Amino acid sequence: QDDIPSLKDVVPWPFGVAIDERETTGASSQLVTKHFGQFTPENQMKPEAIQPTEGEFTFAAADALMDFAVDNDLRVYGHTLVWHSQTPDWFFEKTVTDAEGVETAVPLSTSAEDQAVLRARMRTHIETVAEHFRTTYGEYGTAGNPIVGFDVVNEVIAESEPDGLRRSEWFRVLGPGYIAEAFEIASEAFNGGDPEGPVALFINDYNTELPAKREAMFSVVEDLLAAGAPVDGVGHQLHVSLAQPIGQIKETLDRFAPLGLLQNVSELDVGIDGTITQEKLVEQGYYYADLFDVLRDYDLSSVTVWGPTDTRSWRSEGSPLLFDGQLQAKPAYWGIVDRAQLP
Ligand code: G3I
Repeated sequence: QDDIPSLKDVVPWPFGVAIDERETTGASSQLVTKHFGQFTPENQMKPEAIQPTEGEFTFAAADALMDFAVDNDLRVYGHTLVWHSQTPDWFFEKTVTDAEGVETAVPLSTSAEDQAVLRARMRTHIETVAEHFRTTYGEYGTAGNPIVGFDVVNEVIAESEPDGLRRSEWFRVLGPGYIAEAFEIASEAFNGGDPEGPVALFINDYNTELPAKREAMFSVVEDLLAAGAPVDGVGHQLHVSLAQPIGQIKETLDRFAPLGLLQNVSELDVGIDGTITQEKLVEQGYYYADLFDVLRDYDLSSVTVWGPTDTRSWRSEGSPLLFDGQLQAKPAYWGIVDRAQLP
């Protein structure tokens, strides 16, 4: 690690990595602080991590990462407030009591009363998260508080639906309006309602490089903006493979550019299908080189790789990241730093 260039010094935007507590000590933490200027908590700011039971907020794991950011002068990209996954069932349930006094959890209905319950839960969750990090680390946008952005809604797009919206529990109970509502609440809670506020508010999704998903997301975002929702930016996860044409990624960035929003690459990894060979790892190096050549043309608010090493990846079988399990730089690293170093 000592004798190779820092990735953050060779890319034009803030460079991020998904981490958890394992990256806050030892050699892994040195890798993170050497190569990255920002991180996303991989799981620790998700609803199930922060509010496993209604009204019982657990910020210890998130705060440990926030402390690591403060100590090492790293920016934090929050992930995520409203999602269909890793969100406890209680959000979408109520307790009913039968004639014998037996209590059962049943799904919230679409009655006005149940909708009000879920709306209040959304508000309480977002406001409590925003208030906790403000109280603990100081006002957003001031030294001490490292949070620069947040995924307000995650993976709400489904290109197979006529309106492009995933049929999640949020959608089932509240209908399409829940997305704008989440942004309104987040804007007030993090930025005091100031559209120029310090915490950039994102809609984040995967497969946005594919034309149908891209178009579905584009029209959802267009509608949100037309309705005045305080959306600051679009996050493209970019969980891709070597077979993914880079041209489609470029088409996606070009498609959203006229909207005048921020764009970020939020969860990049490039999986190898089948057996991992040296040849494939070199091919992956060229893929990262070509991809970053394209990305360099865009004024992205950040680019984040979804994990520090292949062994720490959610898709480790595809060895999709820049460093191997021994923390050694792969051809993928050299593809970004210096394609001349590739064989
Ligand atoms: O917390 C439990 C732990 O108590 C238990 O012992 C352990 C046993 O398997 O599981 C732990 O939960 C795991 C959780 O990560 C926290 O580590 C889950 O099994 C595991 O499925 C979960 O995976 C995460 C996944 O999101 C869940 O959807 C991955 O680490 C994380 O990389 C992944 O990230 C998502 C983004 O949030 C959204 N976009 C897609 C991306 C990749 O799936």
